[in-house]
Amino acid sequence: MEAFADFIPPMPPRAAREPSALAGLWNARRDVLSIFPADAYRRQVFTTRLPGRLILVANAPEVVRDIFITKHETYQRKSRFLEDALRPVVGGSCFIAWGDDWAERREAISPPIHPSGLGQFHPCFLQAAEACAESFARASGPVDVAAAYAAAISHVLLLAVFGNLATAEEARAIAETFTAYQEAAEVVDLLGLMGLPDVFGWLTRRRALRLAAELRGCVARLLEAAGPDGGTPLLKALRAARRADGTPALSGERLLDEVVMFLLAGAEGAAITLTWTTMLAALHPATADRMAAELPGDVSDLSALMALPFTRAVIQESMRLYPPVAVFARQAIQPDRIRRWDIRRDDIVLAIPWLLHRHERLWEAPNAFRPERFLGEAARQRPRFAYLPFGIGPRICAGAAFGMAEVTVFAAVLFRRFRFSLAPGFMPRPNCRLALRPKGGMQVVIARR
Ligand code: HEM
Repeated sequence: MEAFADFIPPMPPRAAREPSALAGLWNARRDVLSIFPADAYRRQVFTTRLPGRLILVANAPEVVRDIFITKHETYQRKSRFLEDALRPVVGGSCFIAWGDDWAERREAISPPIHPSGLGQFHPCFLQAAEACAESFARASGPVDVAAAYAAAISHVLLLAVFGNLATAEEARAIAETFTAYQEAAEVVDLLGLMGLPDVFGWLTRRRALRLAAELRGCVARLLEAAGPDGGTPLLKALRAARRADGTPALSGERLLDEVVMFLLAGAEGAAITLTWTTMLAALHPATADRMAAELPGDVSDLSALMALPFTRAVIQESMRLYPPVAVFARQAIQPDRIRRWDIRRDDIVLAIPWLLHRHERLWEAPNAFRPERFLGEAARQRPRFAYLPFGIGPRICAGAAFGMAEVTVFAAVLFRRFRFSLAPGFMPRPNCRLALRPKGGMQVVIARR
């Protein structure tokens, strides 16, 4: 297999030395990635102590496996801070629930998005991808593809849940409101993590709560318009989900929680993956050309698209270098011991795909863009538990196959038709708050191939 000359795509500068815990958190308000010194890309476990709380970073595959799989019971709870940040929007959804409530919700939402049934969503993927391609074809100047993909992928999820009841404009409004919400909620969240009273954050919090209410209201109106028996097969399956005792698993607010979660969790990761993949295609034309050569003109067969090895490898390598969820947090629900550290109830453990995916002891040339890592024999030799774009263990992404499918269909429609280059003078800047997005968007010039 032809090897690429090493190309190192943009990454933030590394911190000169380890910051103090509070200085680190202060910097993390702006960008979590900026706080890690070079050493963090070599160590196996490291900790920082905040008043009353230990934070432990699991930075070796075996430790990740122990925490997220073997000791799932102890570390099943996402952090209270993430719960607080997302609850105003997604209520008690599967994404932040834990214990029996999580298990019940997870069981209810999984069958409708099972990999075996993804073909039913292909028309939604294609409709939204074609609309996106048309808007790219009409563009006369640089396009912020981060915003364009956020709107287009929200449209996919709205089509999957509500069919044509929802318009592309509603998708755009939902995507924009969620981005604004994230910006407001993240500040509040990180202040909470620092244990600071939220005296400066009340205005932001008010704004976050207003945006959350707007989002939920918009989705509640769509649910009402669909009626108690209407909507797509996906919505019907969510309504039909039953508990062991035969009562509905999702009704009223619980149904609203899960639908909002689908729209957000389902859109965010895929839109971000497409954004970074487009940047990589723009910066590395040899990859873009090879993908374009592999992609078929006929995009009607989803399984054929999913089986394209090079396109898949580029998407996987893009998620290695730019994992959309770059940090996962768990809060211990009972005491434990990890290596030499005593973990108390409510201490926080983190897995940081940004570090694991660029760990010097786990990957050759970790910062280089090499899609061939994910091809053939090289793919089989990859370290286990060190590549986590969709998380790991019982809480692994419920929509991983759906997410890969939507990204692949968009790639198939767009990368065969267009050539991308960065807008003159634009420099992409990875910025991680709750998700790893480019700061200032991704400004790209689009030309037909
Ligand atoms: C490329 C696209 C996607 C990426 C990169 C992605 C990534 C992730 C990650 C990393 C997690 C785990 C977070 C953690 O453990 O703290 C997660 C959880 C989740 N994702 Fe995705 N996701 C994607 C698409 C989707 C889609 C399309 C759906 C639904 C239609 C979805 C639904 C969920 C749900 C429900 C959870 C919570 C699972 C649980 O806690 O049991 N995701 N996702």
